[in-house]
Amino acid sequence: MNALRPIEAAVFPHDARAAFAAAYPDRAAKLSHGLAGHELLTLEALAGLAERMPSASVEYNLGKLPLGVRAEDTPSNGLTLGETIRTIETNGSWAVLKNVERDAAYGALLDRALDELLPLVDRRTGPMLHREAFIFLSSPGSVTPFHMDPEHNILLQIRGEKTMTVFPAGDELLVPAIQSEHFHAGGHRNLHWREDFRGRGTAVTLMPGDAIHVPVKAPHFVENGPAVSVSLSVTWRSERSVAEGELHSFNALLRRRKFPTGRIGATPEKQGVRRLAYRLMRKLGA
Ligand SMILES: [Fe+2]
Repeated sequence: MNALRPIEAAVFPHDARAAFAAAYPDRAAKLSHGLAGHELLTLEALAGLAERMPSASVEYNLGKLPLGVRAEDTPSNGLTLGETIRTIETNGSWAVLKNVERDAAYGALLDRALDELLPLVDRRTGPMLHREAFIFLSSPGSVTPFHMDPEHNILLQIRGEKTMTVFPAGDELLVPAIQSEHFHAGGHRNLHWREDFRGRGTAVTLMPGDAIHVPVKAPHFVENGPAVSVSLSVTWRSERSVAEGELHSFNALLRRRKFPTGRIGATPEKQGVRRLAYRLMRKLGA
């Protein structure tokens, strides 16, 4: 008898790693993965996880929202969290479980996924920093409004179908510089939506077993298909993403003092002088 545990299959098969390598860090890319049907990602497992988590790590509300919505206008669904997840097929809601890596089993799953990409990420954007995982549950037909996120992200579709429309990062027509500065100062991730933006995006439909790489701050919105959807988002930061945030924050300081703002290039991690100036200004209490 062989007492060894079977070797687990890769989260990202060879083709997915090749597609990720061709796109990272600047372009969105459709990938595949092997976690659909994983025992930690069933509705029952997720309802149990959600009930163990601190309430600050869970957000949930009504799912059918317009593409543009202000954070303070987001309606509640009137149910408890466990009820929301167990009855998500019928209750018209959207929920996110944040930082699920703080639970040991989910932390191990995140590490297993990201360790496969580590050598490639390290070569392009330096060490993989601040790994986090999020789980999104949404009812049929729900919408995640137009927004952007500060992390390198891969969204893995586990159950149901959703279409993500993703836009290029750094397009100032979609996200003016001043809005980026506000975002890095702690502003909400939701962005102002205009219907004429739509043609600049690419709609990617995700079925269970599909995934998508979403670059840092690439705006996107998500429309759920006709069944309940479960997705796992695995994220990390890099010296590049941290530097980009610092440079926008530096520009915000300069703008407030009516100084000219600086250009943020394709490799912000190399803009050392401006980053140093920002850190000095912060130390001086600016
Ligand atoms: Fe997002």
